[in-house]
Amino acid sequence: MKKYKDIVGDGGSNVVAQVGEQQARLKRRLDAVRFVVAVVSGKGGVGKSTVTANLAASWASKGWRVGVLDADLNGPSMAKMLGVRGRPLAVAGDAVDPPRSATGIPVMSMDLLLSSDDEPLHWRAPTQQEAHTWRGTMEAQALREFLADTAWGELDALVIDLPPGTDRLATVVSLVPVLAGVVIVTIPSDVSQLVVRKSITVAREEKVSILGLVENMAGLFPGPDAATLAAEAGIPFLGAVPFDRGLSLASDRGDPFVVTEAAAPAARALTVIAEKIRDGLERRPRC
Ligand SMILES: Nc1ncnc2c1ncn2[C@@H]1O[C@H](COP(=O)(O)OP(=O)(O)OP(=O)(O)O)[C@@H](O)[C@H]1O
Ligand SMILES: [Mg+2]
Repeated sequence: MKKYKDIVGDGGSNVVAQVGEQQARLKRRLDAVRFVVAVVSGKGGVGKSTVTANLAASWASKGWRVGVLDADLNGPSMAKMLGVRGRPLAVAGDAVDPPRSATGIPVMSMDLLLSSDDEPLHWRAPTQQEAHTWRGTMEAQALREFLADTAWGELDALVIDLPPGTDRLATVVSLVPVLAGVVIVTIPSDVSQLVVRKSITVAREEKVSILGLVENMAGLFPGPDAATLAAEAGIPFLGAVPFDRGLSLASDRGDPFVVTEAAAPAARALTVIAEKIRDGLERRPRC
């Protein structure tokens, strides 16, 4: 049996050329996007996906061309929150044509590739132990495919919804050299802020611009306020989004809350946050 070191070059698979072609496609797609924005938080369940969906819907309703990439491969929620679950993916030339939300947002998510509600994502590997070893690499490869092989078209903003975990940003940075910045989400609790401080450190280490901090579920817990955290960290505080059952129900229905219930305080807060980020991005040259 041949060992890997006995194989000359790529063993005839032409894998080097294939990767090169994919990277060229990725660059071409991202060249058509003015700003790539990632929504992050080391902490889970604080509302990253809710903020992503509503930033995107708010911008789209004001005339920006916006796409959403769900980078949460194991717990994808963007297709549900943007109302495109179950829609077929059409293949158009060398790319997949993503479904569009009611506000015209193209959405790419692992959820659109899994065949049933209950099916989790399994990485194909000879053994589960190997799948564990290669998980990070396989996740990065899946995201690279989503970026390179989706017909995003010309966009003002591509918003990337990240899974929880402070290490995830590094993967996105390695794939998207043109990242315009990150929006960091926290909730008013010591536990959340403890983890979110690490997210701020990671963003700095990765030399990514921090567009600002959002406090979500404001008023639900009596914890520390995020404005203080932002001031201490020297990053912009974008605003506080109150806890609102209506926002959660709208997400479950796939409705863009900022559009359908625009007068609600949570929708107004999200709209102001979206405007602040957009104004900041519009004022700078393309990254
Ligand atoms: N301001 C809010 N008011 C009421 N419910 C909210 C609010 N923000 C988020 N939620 C609800 O809280 C739950 C978690 O939100 P979401 O899925 O956006 O968090 P997440 O940070 O993306 O989670 P994960 O870390 O699993 O990706 C959802 O059911 C969502 O509808
Ligand atoms: Mg999420």
